[in-house]
Amino acid sequence: MTVSPQIRPLTPDDDLEDELELRRRAFGPIDPGSRPEWLASLRGSVAAGRILGAFADGELVGTAKYHDMRQWWHGSQLPMAGVAGVKVAPEARGTRVGSRLMSTLLADIADRGYLVSVLFPSTSPIYRSLGWEYGGAHHEVELPVRSLGSLAPADQLGQQAASLPPVRRAGPQDAAAVISVLDLVYRASRSCGPTVREPETVARWLADPENFAYLAGDGGFVSYGWHGRHNLWLHSHAAIDREHAVALWRVVSSHASMADKLTAVLGPDDPVSWLVREPDVTVRQHAAWMLRVVDARAAVAARGYPSAVELAVRLELTDPQQPANAGSWLLSVSGGKGALEAAPAASSAPLRLGIRGFSAAFCGVPLSTLRTAGLVAGGGPADDEAVECAFAGTAYMLDYF
Ligand SMILES: CC(C)(COP(=O)(O)OP(=O)(O)OC[C@H]1O[C@@H](n2cnc3c(N)ncnc32)[C@H](O)[C@@H]1OP(=O)(O)O)[C@@H](O)C(=O)NCCC(=O)NCCS
Repeated sequence: MTVSPQIRPLTPDDDLEDELELRRRAFGPIDPGSRPEWLASLRGSVAAGRILGAFADGELVGTAKYHDMRQWWHGSQLPMAGVAGVKVAPEARGTRVGSRLMSTLLADIADRGYLVSVLFPSTSPIYRSLGWEYGGAHHEVELPVRSLGSLAPADQLGQQAASLPPVRRAGPQDAAAVISVLDLVYRASRSCGPTVREPETVARWLADPENFAYLAGDGGFVSYGWHGRHNLWLHSHAAIDREHAVALWRVVSSHASMADKLTAVLGPDDPVSWLVREPDVTVRQHAAWMLRVVDARAAVAARGYPSAVELAVRLELTDPQQPANAGSWLLSVSGGKGALEAAPAASSAPLRLGIRGFSAAFCGVPLSTLRTAGLVAGGGPADDEAVECAFAGTAYMLDYF
């Protein structure tokens, strides 16, 4: 059966308790302590017009929202819509309410100029049918707190001995400074995938009394809290160089007399594995995320590329939901910049991708993987290599929504 719900943004006149009730039925009980925070976040989404509701006979039967985020791709940031809270009332599931909600949300995301969109799926078919594909992961890293107390010495490579930067507590008034550190580190490290939220959200996190946040000079930030009585949970550690990293790990390691284990949200190649003396760090994938390139031309132009790479490759793209992405293109990279320019149909068979394959390739997924998965056809090994060189990187995210 197909139901034709009315889909529209929720407004302050809608009863937000209906949304929370839908959330409870879809995702489980809401802890009474965190209810005010859910309501505050919901009001923010409503005020920004970033939450859609599906109504059947005037009753709310589904919602989906997105966060306003920026995502770093090889040294450049792109406006990214982080989709979350997609849900349909149990009695209305399987009647395409979810699909209609998501296709309206995608159109809205495109209208507002987001170049890419990311979500953490609990089921894939609905998102795949609209162009999202697996692109990267969210990792958790575990190590004994004590291992951070005495780090491996740096090699003597002719560098000047540098003193550690001053470290100070950070609070909600430091949101802009924290964002500036994250941007500095993600740009300099040419990271692929990590995100930064808008200042209000960062200020809300910094105001949480359960989080201990510190800034090291203007090039380091750490945020952590207790995780049970004997362990710590680290939400963020970003440092521009060894001195900033060490200064902040010292703060965390000062808990070693009371805290045994540190569970940290860090990238899979975080320097901590190279800083500790012993093989004490376990990195495990916690969740996979899917990305959709919303505006292929603008996303290719906005992201960064290795400056040593020079290439051009013909592509044929299909995208039923965003037809402006479809067509015959020349992808070129030169001097750290990329372009996707319309090209006349080729006589030789160019690389053919749907938007899902293109989105995964954009995240650095190898073309051989995508060919075997049935997401790429045509072209040849040289084309595959060119696309892989352009988008090389291990995409990861530290935020989870
Ligand atoms: C997932 C959910 C939002 C989908 O909404 P829906 O209205 O039931 O989905 P639709 O009827 O539009 O179906 C869309 C496609 O997804 C598939 N699908 C829907 N729910 C699915 C599920 N739980 N597992 C696997 N596939 C599912 C459908 O079979 C359909 O595939 P098809 O196009 O190949 O036929 C809804 O089932 C739900 O609220 N589930 C519980 C909460 C949840 O898991 N939310 C997702 C968080 S990421």
